[in-house]
Amino acid sequence: MKIKQLRNIFVIPLIFSIFSCSQNTYDDIEEETNPIPEIVTYQDVKYIIDGACIACHSNPPQNGAPMSLVSFEHVKEAVQNRDLISKISKNVGDNGLMPLGGPRLPQSSIDLIIEWNNDGLLEN
Ligand code: HEC
Repeated sequence: MKIKQLRNIFVIPLIFSIFSCSQNTYDDIEEETNPIPEIVTYQDVKYIIDGACIACHSNPPQNGAPMSLVSFEHVKEAVQNRDLISKISKNVGDNGLMPLGGPRLPQSSIDLIIEWNNDGLLEN
């Protein structure tokens, strides 16, 4: 009973205040429906690599990975000379799919990295 009262006192006004403050501008809405930035830079792809790759491609690399992917230079070099994009684009079950052992990256993340390459592999 006490907990329920506390919840009513704190949580319900909180929910109301959150909703009353959120005003979606046109820019917000556009951002939600079009998540790929106009020019993709390393800053946009770094979080994907950090989340899916650096368990092995750390510095120094682990689990038999041949190189690290912890910096802009590393990742750029791997796109240019180590077939990074084709390794992440393979189908589940194909030999050499990265991240090794899966799961395959979401297609939107793969597309973002492809777009980064198309945009010239910029750092910022
Ligand atoms: C569980 C460990 C592990 C994870 C996670 C992992 N890799 Fe790898 N990676 C390896 C190993 C081991 C090799 C070397 C053997 C091979 O090529 O299959 C490798 C090789 C590669 C190569 C080829 C290097 C070369 O010179 O031939 C690329 C490119 C690569 N990984 C990219 C990635 C990317 C990008 C991710 C994240 C999306 C990732 N890896 C996640 C273990 C991993």
